Amino acid sequence: MTFPRTRPRRLRRSETLRSMVRETRLSRDDLILPLFVVEGSGVREPVVSMPGVFRHSVDQLVLECKETRDLGIPSVILFGIPTAKDARGSGADAADGITQRAVEAVKREVSDLCVITDVCLCEYTDHGHCGIVQDEEVLNDPSVARLAETALSHARAGADIVAPSDMMDGRVAAIRTILDENGFEQVAILSYAAKFASAFYGPFRDAAESTPAFGDRRAYQMDPPNGREALREMRLDLEEGADALMVKPALPYLDILAAAAREFDVPLAAYHVSGEYSMIHAAAERGWIDGPRAMHEATIAIKRAGADWILTYAAKDLARDLSA
Ligand code: PBG
Repeated sequence: MTFPRTRPRRLRRSETLRSMVRETRLSRDDLILPLFVVEGSGVREPVVSMPGVFRHSVDQLVLECKETRDLGIPSVILFGIPTAKDARGSGADAADGITQRAVEAVKREVSDLCVITDVCLCEYTDHGHCGIVQDEEVLNDPSVARLAETALSHARAGADIVAPSDMMDGRVAAIRTILDENGFEQVAILSYAAKFASAFYGPFRDAAESTPAFGDRRAYQMDPPNGREALREMRLDLEEGADALMVKPALPYLDILAAAAREFDVPLAAYHVSGEYSMIHAAAERGWIDGPRAMHEATIAIKRAGADWILTYAAKDLARDLSA
């Protein structure tokens, strides 16, 4: 049957009809809020390149997490930013490190919030790379050992899920092994499996002070043109023991997300990263787009493509709009 008997517009005539035929709905349960934690107390410092995003000290972070939970958001992912940095990222796995203290406090005060930790070295190393460096090269296996120790220290602090974001080969297996050997067989691994060497991480590196002092991350993060390779990375991480997989960034990589949703049967996360978030805010500030609508449209597109979990700096705004 074709026009004029077929008229797709019939089911778009009112908000009631549109809501009856809506195929994808955003839920608060889909959202994970990324949070930055710094030393000190009473700190709530705006990140200039990310409107609405702050760097919190542990006491303020706890308040932020309570508010997040009260909005119905089930989970946060924590990024620790230490004051002291060195070549091996000693702060990353220190029992009293910034991330470890943050996890302990949040799990103590907001126990039903699912706490995910970003496992990486770039926030802790003085050179800003995600691993151990020798002659300007990031060495894989020594980095994996440090990342495994870091994940274990996060589990000891009470993390529910650890999320390695470094892109070293073999880190998921090493983390699974060290967690199991130490009685943390119930701590899950969300692998940043298909993480691309992206220009969209710019504002995050301001927030996390993790811009590489030399070179870039293209020798470990993925090359943006590669789709098949992304599926291979994801398959490898599943074989190594990942419980959930991530694609990052989100909007420029929806093809990979959609392919992964068809291919794998584990929860799939997508990270709507700092640059994606800040672009929407920058355009909205100029009056060029409707910021909240654009943010919602971007987020629902990520869900439609196949994401079960969406990491987004707009999680609180989205949750508020959902209850409105
Ligand atoms: C750490 C890490 C990065 C992001 C998440 N974890 C930065 C990077 O790889 O340079 C980016 C997140 C964002 O841009 O919002 N390795």
